[in-house]
Amino acid sequence: MPKSRIRILQKQSRSLEPNKEQRAELMERSLNYGEKFMDSLSDQKAYQTFDHDHVHQLLEDPLREEPSELNTVIEAIQQDIVPPGLNPASGAHFGYIPGGGIFSSAVGDYLSALTNRYVGVYFSSPGAVVLETRLVNWMAGLIGFDKKAGGFLSSGGSIANLTAVVTAREHAGLHSSDYSKAVVYLTKQTHHCVDKALNISGMGDCVKRYIPMDDHFKMDVHELKKSIQKDREEKLIPWMIIASAGTTDTGAIDRLDEIGESAKEQHLWYHIDAAYGGFFLLTKEGKQKLKGIDRADSVVLDPHKGLFLPYGTGALVVKNAEILANAHHYEANYMQDTKVEAGMYSPAEISPELSKHFRGLRMWMPLKLHGVQAFRSALEEKLLLTQYAWERLSEMEDIEVGPEPELTVFTFRWAPKINADLDKLNQKLHQAMIEDGRVFLSTTRIEGEFRFRFAVLSVRSHLEEIELFFSVLKEKIDQIG
Ligand SMILES: Cc1ncc(COP(=O)(O)O)c(C=O)c1O
Repeated sequence: MPKSRIRILQKQSRSLEPNKEQRAELMERSLNYGEKFMDSLSDQKAYQTFDHDHVHQLLEDPLREEPSELNTVIEAIQQDIVPPGLNPASGAHFGYIPGGGIFSSAVGDYLSALTNRYVGVYFSSPGAVVLETRLVNWMAGLIGFDKKAGGFLSSGGSIANLTAVVTAREHAGLHSSDYSKAVVYLTKQTHHCVDKALNISGMGDCVKRYIPMDDHFKMDVHELKKSIQKDREEKLIPWMIIASAGTTDTGAIDRLDEIGESAKEQHLWYHIDAAYGGFFLLTKEGKQKLKGIDRADSVVLDPHKGLFLPYGTGALVVKNAEILANAHHYEANYMQDTKVEAGMYSPAEISPELSKHFRGLRMWMPLKLHGVQAFRSALEEKLLLTQYAWERLSEMEDIEVGPEPELTVFTFRWAPKINADLDKLNQKLHQAMIEDGRVFLSTTRIEGEFRFRFAVLSVRSHLEEIELFFSVLKEKIDQIG
């Protein structure tokens, strides 16, 4: 074996391991860009319209054999990749479910990637596994679960909901021949990732009972009970109830306590999707509104929503971790060294992932560095900002608001008393706001009507951004009107 070839290859690949000076240069340029980005945030648009052809040029961007200049790479990020479209880091982002992405979390993520701990199993990184367990226990404590609870950090709410569905399926002992008779109870306001989860988990053919809702878009518990009863009489298999603690469209919180009572009486798996609303448990008001969440068998929370972390952090917390483990535990010969007495579950034993991103640091560092109170205050601020915005909109002539917000989402539409197609008018208003870009709101349809959704959850949304929204709204209405 000629060692010379090995030496040549080693030399050719050396740039994969930059030296101290090269690292310093890379960091300096990247940090410069990062600082520029942060410093200019209040001047950046919340939505930047773009030219498709220009963005698609990236598809032709050659990935050459030889290295590119650092400057050109940073320029591409700064000019072509980051700016077009939605700016989730903007405080004037009031669409979908904002989050913001806090700085300390980005730094935590940098350290995670750099140290690259293997969080799948305790044997390989006990520190990282204990850290994740600590965070899960903290969330379990917020929910009101006891020490039997367990869970893991996922990439987001969709994967966490999927894992909950799989856990419920396994716990019920359902076999494929049962799937078309198993019944899941939910509402038309349940997040669409649950439908997706049912499909992916093989439960796509199960019976989906969309329970009617009241005027506030909450599941009608009386109807739920009637449905379960009827399904039993028809020899179906009532299996799982999915309640929402903050729906995406209207922010409605189902009657968690009452639904929990029914789930218990009927021995059904009770899952609560609190991806959006869960962290309001940190506030006094939220805690009251989410009363009964501790009755759930499983709860999804999204730290990349309610804790303002950058995208890529969700969580599933299950009341009895053993059930989660039973649904996900597998053995493999090549994993035999990892079998050590850890005194806790490793994420790989209770979740679909084996190798996983070292997610804990991006959540733990901010909680430690800022303290929980800072998050509590930010969430309380968002509740009050939303109430303020809703009240002001309610007082405006020609604006029709949806139900008073329970959390930080509500809907409204422009409804001038003229003979016009209101859907078309509101679409025009939305388009005008998109083109302006200073604030961003997304839209939805409620009972067929086109409506704006106003969602306040960016860490950077304050009174100034709400005022900006009102001035943009007025300006655009005046222009169109
Ligand atoms: C209530 C609810 N559940 C689930 C999800 C899906 O979460 P993710 O986007 O993190 O996958 C969302 C996202 O907005 C949501 O609002």
